[in-house]
Amino acid sequence: MTVTPSSVTLPIVMGGAEFAADPPAHYTWLRENSPLGQVRLDFGAFAQDVWVVSRYADCKAMLTDPRLLRSPYGPPPGVEIPEHIRLVSSTLDMKDKDEHRRLRSLVAAPFTPKRIDHLGEQVRALAERRLDALGGDSGPIDLRQDFALPVTYTVIADLVGVGEQDRVRFQQGVTALMSGFSGSREDWEAHVRDLVDVTRDLVARKRAEPADDLVTGLIEAEEAGDRLDDTELVAMVFSLVTAGYETTYNLITNAVAALLDHPDQLDLLRAAPDDEALWRSAVDEVARYLPPITGTRPATAVEDIEWHGQTVPAGASVLPLLAAANRDPEVFEEPERFDVTRSPNPHLGFGHGVHFCLGANLARMEARVALQVLFERHPGLSLAVGRDELALEPMPLWTRFRELPVVLG
Ligand code: HEM
Repeated sequence: MTVTPSSVTLPIVMGGAEFAADPPAHYTWLRENSPLGQVRLDFGAFAQDVWVVSRYADCKAMLTDPRLLRSPYGPPPGVEIPEHIRLVSSTLDMKDKDEHRRLRSLVAAPFTPKRIDHLGEQVRALAERRLDALGGDSGPIDLRQDFALPVTYTVIADLVGVGEQDRVRFQQGVTALMSGFSGSREDWEAHVRDLVDVTRDLVARKRAEPADDLVTGLIEAEEAGDRLDDTELVAMVFSLVTAGYETTYNLITNAVAALLDHPDQLDLLRAAPDDEALWRSAVDEVARYLPPITGTRPATAVEDIEWHGQTVPAGASVLPLLAAANRDPEVFEEPERFDVTRSPNPHLGFGHGVHFCLGANLARMEARVALQVLFERHPGLSLAVGRDELALEPMPLWTRFRELPVVLG
């Protein structure tokens, strides 16, 4: 399917095949023709029409506008959401004001730059071990599933404290939740229920046997007088693990896809294997150019908001489209160019404002180290399929490849 900004058809359905065929064409169309527009988010189970802002300045403004709150956001009237699904949707990014501040401060400590620096060696060792395990394979591997996912999942599962015995179940639940229910709704709900159960078991186990991990830290915070009830604990643990690897493994995968698609940029990196600043800059350029999170969760207008000569009525939902803001020519020179040396690069790939990504430092470090190890060990890494065969999954708020078949070389 060929899409250009001039051939975009309405309504724009994020999560639909036309949008997935060429997201940047839709971003350009929205920025130029409909800076306060409307799109349909197709979540599979239900679809929802939301207002969308796509220009950089508007996205930033919306992300700090006190008239927009996350907590009232929900599915359209008439769509019934079972209790366990509501629980796994009750994540930090859906909280506002005091509740948000309190919960975020309880989980912030392990994500400071100093703590993260200590994890660098661990990430390197994990990436090396994973490549050792794949080493014998001369045939194609799926870089996403076989490398990026296991490395990033292990990092966050270790940090949070998901024990070996629960890892497979936990990951199956997250995968099912993220992929929506294109299969049977019953199967999907069973996986989500299992995810809630396995998280509850984990919290119970840490109460009985404290360890040096984030779940134990949260339980201790609760015991020190700050109330974090079991439901909040379960939602927090689930949300940290999910936010921690679903995003990061896509950042690594998107990075490899972008670099293989721009050999001149990959050559720059290969020529400077120890130039940490350049590799850092490359990771941020990926977060700008192919951000795993295309848009934040929509927020709800608590009063009428006038914007670009239109009124967003109270109760309506607004989505800041980060990926479109990241290609706004008002802010980025030659925004459609992938440039690992781009500076300055004030992209919104990690969000902006009070909900700015808590894990940004960890994710940047993980991606940088994993990419350095990958290209150091396999300088001849190449795509195992034609460029045209790579496809994005049609998902409403994510930029993620279905698979990334590569030959390690
Ligand atoms: C927000 C965790 C990686 C993009 C958040 C939040 C958490 C989080 C807890 C919610 C913060 C809040 O509402 O106060 C993590 C962890 C990561 C990680 C633990 C990995 C170790 C990433 C990556 C990206 C990303 C790789 C994309 C490049 C975002 C964005 C938001 C966000 C855009 C803002 C969402 C919003 O405004 O609702 N992250 N994240 N995150 N994260 Fe991450």
